[in-house]
Amino acid sequence: MHFMPVAPGQLALLTPPTRIRAQLIKRGETPEIISDGVEISYRMENPQTGQRLPGFWAGLKKRIGDLAPPTGSLGFDEESGLHISGPLAIEPFDKAGAALTYPVLVLQAKDVKSGKILARTKMVAAGSAMMGCANCHGGGKTFPGGGLGQVAARDILATHDRMNKTDLIDKSKSGMIHCQDCHPDPELKSEGNPKLLNISAAIHGFHAVYLGEKDQDACLSCHPVDNEGLSRSLRSMHAHLQMTCTDCHGYLEDHASSLLLNEQKAGKPGAKGLLEHIKPRKAETFDGINPRIPWQNQPDCLSCHEEFQAPEETESFNQWTGTHADQYRNRKGEVGGVACLSCHSAPHALYPGLYRRDSLQPLQYQETPYTLGADENCKLCHTVDMEDEGHHANSLRKVRNPIEQDK
Ligand code: HEC
Ligand code: HEC
Ligand code: HEC
Ligand code: HEC
Ligand code: HEC
Ligand code: HEC
Ligand code: HEC
Repeated sequence: MHFMPVAPGQLALLTPPTRIRAQLIKRGETPEIISDGVEISYRMENPQTGQRLPGFWAGLKKRIGDLAPPTGSLGFDEESGLHISGPLAIEPFDKAGAALTYPVLVLQAKDVKSGKILARTKMVAAGSAMMGCANCHGGGKTFPGGGLGQVAARDILATHDRMNKTDLIDKSKSGMIHCQDCHPDPELKSEGNPKLLNISAAIHGFHAVYLGEKDQDACLSCHPVDNEGLSRSLRSMHAHLQMTCTDCHGYLEDHASSLLLNEQKAGKPGAKGLLEHIKPRKAETFDGINPRIPWQNQPDCLSCHEEFQAPEETESFNQWTGTHADQYRNRKGEVGGVACLSCHSAPHALYPGLYRRDSLQPLQYQETPYTLGADENCKLCHTVDMEDEGHHANSLRKVRNPIEQDK
């Protein structure tokens, strides 16, 4: 889930944009991953203007360079073996400005020489403007189910000015405030003022002081999880199983201190003052918490699912992935190049998702909402039944948790 908490004209917390990752697989006894001689293009099913949040995109562009157009082609990335799009300016609104939280992208693969269409599929691109800052900073919902509007934005800037002797309210009169102008952001490679806490450590660290001793509710006061289904940070099969953010990421105190400890290690003076007010919960003391870099050191599927088995552990806090290459989204199974994502989908929308739109590809290819190849359906790609597990142990079996999808 990528989000764009934005109050037009006032402030934007710039978060990393969505990218499409795709593989083209040719069916056969041993299927083939096709990377040469093909072009994979994308377009929005319901074209949007991509222009409702100009200050947000301009701020992002300043940091990461040009954004990808609303209709375009993926580039092939040698390192990961995936076709990847540039950063997409996807907004959770349709052309008329109504909420459209899971816009559908249509992908098409074409043989470059012959011009023949080889495959077509669809996916949703999760985008959300529902960061719940207004829940506490005032102004009410600006978007069905959440949001950050003018009133909350003004309150946030005024509070920031009062607490830190900044002049953000004044500055906002002449242009949108981008938090990353001052707070570093390793993911956007934005240096800001290197003495300040990075934006993830500042936000989680500061609010953990006020939001102690809560469960997932602490996360949900900001991260969007709307029961009406407009925008949900967690809608994978783990959500069917009633798992919560804290099972994988820790409680807010733990999540915040892992970020602050990393900043303390880097010699940032602001970390100490916040850590003094936080008591970790999944560890006795801070010594038991592994520091982490935001967006990079993340939970690891295999710390619960050891050797790809049904989990004996049901929490993964503190066992972070190392580099970006170790992250689930960039990993592949154990034979050849099929990515985890290609069979299982996005980390918080793993098949079968809560909604049919989260399972567009398995519904298209195998008429069930489950992982590609699940229920011993390896011949989906292999054209024959398989005996050897290949991609990983424990994949050749019946689905353990059959589900009902809502809509
Ligand atoms: C659960 C309630 C709650 C939510 C939700 C919330 N805040 Fe806050 N925030 C607070 C409280 C309480 C303060 C301290 C206010 C005070 O002392 O006047 C605060 C203060 C702040 C400050 C000032 C901190 C400083 O030292 O400068 C910033 C910036 C801020 N919030 C940003 C945000 C943003 C951005 C969001 C949404 C992503 C958000 N808040 C969501 C409760 C909340
Ligand atoms: C002009 C520079 C500047 C901008 C822009 C800025 N901040 Fe800050 N921020 C600071 C300074 C300085 C502090 C105080 C740091 C300290 O005392 O160690 C601070 C502190 C904070 C804190 C309290 C945690 C801490 O480090 O003590 C939060 C939370 C925070 N900022 C959030 C935000 C958010 C959210 C935005 C965007 C809306 C933002 N800041 C924009 C300079 C800035
Ligand atoms: C006060 C609002 C607020 C609360 C409470 C909150 N978040 Fe966040 N979270 C944010 C914002 C804003 C960002 C984007 C920060 C950035 O761009 O780095 C974010 C980013 C993240 C990230 C990505 C960056 C990273 O550190 O890797 C994770 C993971 C995350 N939140 C998990 C959680 C979990 C889990 C909880 C509850 C335990 C939680 N958050 C509670 C506002 C909040
Ligand atoms: C079953 C475990 C699990 C649960 C439950 C879970 N997450 Fe995550 N989360 C992950 C993993 C794994 C990653 C890293 C994905 C990767 O490496 O590609 C992640 C990454 C993130 C990120 C970084 C951005 C991204 O999409 O990678 C955010 C933000 C986040 N989680 C927030 C949440 C929130 C909020 C909740 C609760 C609503 C939640 N997560 C529940 C496992 C989980
Ligand atoms: C915090 C521990 C934890 C993490 C981290 C975690 N899972 Fe799970 N997962 C579970 C639990 C618990 C179940 C339900 C187990 C059961 O069926 O008894 C489950 C079930 C599953 C299933 C369903 C199996 C079936 O046949 O019904 C799949 C698939 C799965 N997880 C994949 C993943 C992937 C991929 C990741 C990383 C993106 C991941 N899990 C991260 C705990 C975790
Ligand atoms: C070729 C398709 C394919 C690829 C690639 C793939 N998986 Fe799977 N995976 C499956 C199937 C099929 C199952 C069994 C059905 C299910 O549980 O959904 C499964 C099950 C799992 C489970 C659940 C284990 C359990 O019993 O609870 C986890 C965890 C998992 N995979 C993680 C991964 C990770 C991590 C990667 C990448 C390193 C990956 N998978 C790559 C097809 C794949
Ligand atoms: C989404 C398509 C896809 C699905 C589904 C799939 N595979 Fe594969 N598999 C591939 C591709 C592509 C290769 C070729 C190796 C490579 O380049 O990654 C492969 C290679 C293999 C290999 C090694 C080469 C060979 O043909 O013996 C084994 C073993 C294997 N798969 C087993 C399985 C099993 C078991 C399942 C079902 C649980 C399965 N695969 C489901 C795409 C798939």
